[in-house]
Amino acid sequence: MKDDLKTILTRHLELEAFYAGDFSIRGAPCTRSARTVPSAESDAMCPTARPQKSTPTSDIATLQAPPLDTLDAIAAVVRQCRLCRLSENRTHAVPGQGNPNAQLVFVGEGPGEDEDTQGLAFVGRAGKKLTDIITAMGLRREDVFICNVVKCRPPGNRDPRPDEALACLPYLKRQLELIEPKVIVALGAHAAQRLLETDQAIGRLRGRFFEYPYSNDHPPAKLMPTYHPSYLIRNYTVETRQRVWDDMQKVMGELKIKPTRGD
Ligand code: URA
Repeated sequence: MKDDLKTILTRHLELEAFYAGDFSIRGAPCTRSARTVPSAESDAMCPTARPQKSTPTSDIATLQAPPLDTLDAIAAVVRQCRLCRLSENRTHAVPGQGNPNAQLVFVGEGPGEDEDTQGLAFVGRAGKKLTDIITAMGLRREDVFICNVVKCRPPGNRDPRPDEALACLPYLKRQLELIEPKVIVALGAHAAQRLLETDQAIGRLRGRFFEYPYSNDHPPAKLMPTYHPSYLIRNYTVETRQRVWDDMQKVMGELKIKPTRGD
């Protein structure tokens, strides 16, 4: 998991360095930049060498990915990320926010318009519904961590495409690895399917715990899929509300939290 993120960062840094003209291929240092007329011999040894700016050449091996050992470090990388097309139209990337030591993490699908404007997860209409759910569980938003599978808004709030979700997933996985929550609530099909690596429908997944393994020795988190707050808003029936509330009561049981109200 950490390796996925390293690969992403290294690719990112290579790309940045490439466009900044501060890049040469791995291997023996290439000296062609010091000369004005390249020879056939140096071309063969340095097939991709480009004219250099005055800055020193850096080798891939020496490019240092920043250590992603804090949520802030991940957030900083997410804000610079250009790994998929979603970055092209964003106002703000939305890394996620909340308690870095949370026992409970909510994972949604991706930012909407309000989230894109503010750079914060779940602050629009769906966010208000999520706040209601968190409050009904006897918690505050500051007690939990809230984030998404994709960190940039899909245009027109369309579903994230598989390549976009795959490009972004290592950020989420590393966030979960750092927080090590006891329970993860996957809000909606996208979050549940990505985290559980399944294509089963949310209606079949919701209501029971799955294991979400960490890559270290820590015991796995319990992952509860439930309906997305937007789905709840669109289908505000007694039945749907009851199902989400049932799911949250199971989460509360796992975390030993007492409810403040039970609608
Ligand atoms: N829907 C999501 O899935 N995430 C948000 O942050 C907002 C709406």
